[in-house]
Amino acid sequence: MTETPSINLAVIPGDGIGPEVVAQAQRVLTRAAELDQIAVTATEYPLGAGHWLATGETLSEETKAKLATHDAILFGAVGADPRSTQVPSGLIEREILLNLRFSFDHYINLRPSRLYPGAVSPLANPGQIDFVVVREGTEGPYAGNGGVLRAGTPEEIATEVSLNTAHGIERLIRYAFELANTRDKKKLTLIHKTNVLVNAGALYTRIFNQVATQYPQVTTDYLHIDAATIFLTTDPARFDVIVTDNLFGDILTDQAGAISGGIGYAACGNINADRTFPSMFEPVHGSAPDIAGLNKANPTASILAAAMLLRHLGYEGTAARIDRAVEADLAANPGATRGTDEIGSAILAALDA
Ligand code: IPM
Ligand code: MN
Repeated sequence: MTETPSINLAVIPGDGIGPEVVAQAQRVLTRAAELDQIAVTATEYPLGAGHWLATGETLSEETKAKLATHDAILFGAVGADPRSTQVPSGLIEREILLNLRFSFDHYINLRPSRLYPGAVSPLANPGQIDFVVVREGTEGPYAGNGGVLRAGTPEEIATEVSLNTAHGIERLIRYAFELANTRDKKKLTLIHKTNVLVNAGALYTRIFNQVATQYPQVTTDYLHIDAATIFLTTDPARFDVIVTDNLFGDILTDQAGAISGGIGYAACGNINADRTFPSMFEPVHGSAPDIAGLNKANPTASILAAAMLLRHLGYEGTAARIDRAVEADLAANPGATRGTDEIGSAILAALDA
């Protein structure tokens, strides 16, 4: 007797447009899974700025322990309206999103960029845009090592120390080489700022060069982050897989989203590749409180994140089903202005095609 495959999903819709886009992603994921006879059970966790204001909980240890029991997490967006003065800046981002990335050891922050036919790039000659940024997820200046001295005085000092461990860099770079090795172009570009950040830069470079010797089939390249932003604008087709640190990856993937049809198509996997904790999948965009509740947000990034989630759990065929539906929907509706649920329904319908 073979067991029916099943997915025990946690869903964190969050704030702003998070709930709207996640609802569409969940619909599409559930239907695609059903078509492939995969059972999905979903448990919703009402975390976010609204939940904090109502209950005082950002993310308790108890909730974290419950989240840890799931196969994967589908995440919308968290963050208060910046016009509100009730929520301190960065509190929700740090205590929920970053807390989960760190606690569940999401050391790979995977961000594919593809200009789908039908999507519009602001570049005059975008060429073939199809690359993946492997952003480090748990270190760098995000690690929270810093503080303030002499607060409130003219001599006030603020520090944000960038933490870079040999272990963290090696597992990141190895993952990136493995990924590059599965792709047609087999090209891996390291992006850093080794001419200024000489200490972290040297560690990244040394490990990159060491691991490279084990992947002679993969072509390697290096760019400083500033030059990389130029090439991403003038010749994005030169990129295949990019590996970079947490902060450079954050900035670069917003630019990558912008050139690839907009941030409404950018999906992200916060991945624990050792599978010691559930991985978490989200759109790169934030909670966009200014358009929340207006049925204006594009759910495609969340839907593509759901496909990444399925792929991570080993359901390649089901993930590809969703990717194909997104592609078909975009090709059929180039440049159309549509509502959140309209896009979700169109992608859902394209699944059965
Ligand atoms: C992202 C976001 C986060 C980050 C913020 C909200 C903490 O910008 O996922 O890119 O900087 O990683
Ligand atoms: Mn970002």
